[in-house]
Amino acid sequence: MNTNLPSTAAANSATWSQRFESALHPAIARFNASIGFDIQLIEYDLTGSQAHARMLAHTGIISAEEGEQLVNGLEQIRQEYREGKFTPGVDAEDVHFAVERRLTELVGDVGKKLHTARSRNDQVGTDTRLYLRDQIQTIRTQLRQFQSALLHLATQHVETLIPGYTHLQRAQPLSLAHHLLAYFEMSQRDWERLGEIYNRVNVSPLGSGALAGTTFPIDRHYTAELLNFAGVYANSLDGVSDRDFAIEFLCAASLIMVHLSRLSEEVILWASEEFAFVTLKDSCSTGSSIMPQKKNPDVPELVRGKTGRVFGHLQALLVLMKGLPLAYNKDLQEDKEALFDAVVTVQSCLEAMTILLQEGMEFRTQRLQAAVSEDFSNATDVADYLAAKGVPFREAYNLVGKVVKTSLAQGKLLKDLTLDEWKSLHPAFEADIYEAIAPAKVVSARNSYGGTGFAQVRQALQAAQAKLAG
Ligand code: ARG
Repeated sequence: MNTNLPSTAAANSATWSQRFESALHPAIARFNASIGFDIQLIEYDLTGSQAHARMLAHTGIISAEEGEQLVNGLEQIRQEYREGKFTPGVDAEDVHFAVERRLTELVGDVGKKLHTARSRNDQVGTDTRLYLRDQIQTIRTQLRQFQSALLHLATQHVETLIPGYTHLQRAQPLSLAHHLLAYFEMSQRDWERLGEIYNRVNVSPLGSGALAGTTFPIDRHYTAELLNFAGVYANSLDGVSDRDFAIEFLCAASLIMVHLSRLSEEVILWASEEFAFVTLKDSCSTGSSIMPQKKNPDVPELVRGKTGRVFGHLQALLVLMKGLPLAYNKDLQEDKEALFDAVVTVQSCLEAMTILLQEGMEFRTQRLQAAVSEDFSNATDVADYLAAKGVPFREAYNLVGKVVKTSLAQGKLLKDLTLDEWKSLHPAFEADIYEAIAPAKVVSARNSYGGTGFAQVRQALQAAQAKLAG
């Protein structure tokens, strides 16, 4: 036997059954260990273990006194951890072993009873679900704050106009509030989606054992109730090896990032000199180390950049799962870093984007007004004007195309044409054409349900307010 084995080796051979004669190679011990990241689950591990201990006592598998000793010992570990006094190393392999070992140190041999009728497989599944439940609630609260910030901004800008684009070409002018409310709707779906996913996260695998259940007369519903799970996995194999809930969460997280990234891209464009629709405040932008005139949109750029990480984690978990035979395989240890990083990334991006909306940028309303007055984005309205007077829309559309072409050649906008010029194009034109193509009129006229007309937008604001309150 290698006499230079590190202390981890002794611990390792102590961990496993008598079947093992020699210890793990130290590099393999490090390779195998998840304590470096699953320590984040410790509070959930302790809570899950306390529920398990209570159940063991409740069902008479251990005595009431033993149950109490276990619960108290676990609580003591919680205190130690919170005070920074419990810092297990690689020799513990993972958080589950670390806790069990410390428990036995604290309460003696009874600590060795905690793992009766349980496996680390159902334990880690329980911990991960408890963790994700909390994180989902946090993200839903953050989504609400993000939505409030959007709504607040939208309320101030009902009658502020902004060019609307398709193909990134000027299309039709919009109420700025309408544009912002589009993001409100996306985040509303994100909020709802996470609520639905929560229901599938909120199912207890505890008591599935290693894969097949247990010979002990456990009560899975009792532990589920103690841990506030809405139900229990019906099949023990599925219970220990299912990670659908994590993948579903990563899908939802990816969509949140898609939405944040789209908004980021717009803010980056708007902050450019070419658009100049927003000014970035000092609190949310940085300068250049060489070009003194610059103010960079770091926040939306970072959000756009971080989006790829979350997509990557989703991809990683899908690939992780696709070839796994039932039931638990050590591959599943790889789910955690992906999940943890996605959680932190989404939470930090939501926080940063909310601050950006609340205080990091200002719309340049004069620039926006000039932008919507200096283009042909009212061309559809000329066609609609004629169509309303009985000219078939396609005919009107062709005619207006011709008008745009000749106006462009003459360096004119539609509003610059004289009434005679209009009349020579089509006799149906009258003096009210000027009002019909004024930007504010063009916007307010799009009063169809869900459209950008001011009356519609005001109703949409009220509906959004109601969603936030509900
Ligand atoms: N650290 C492990 C994980 O994260 C815990 C479960 C280990 N189970 C086992 N059979 N080796 O997946």
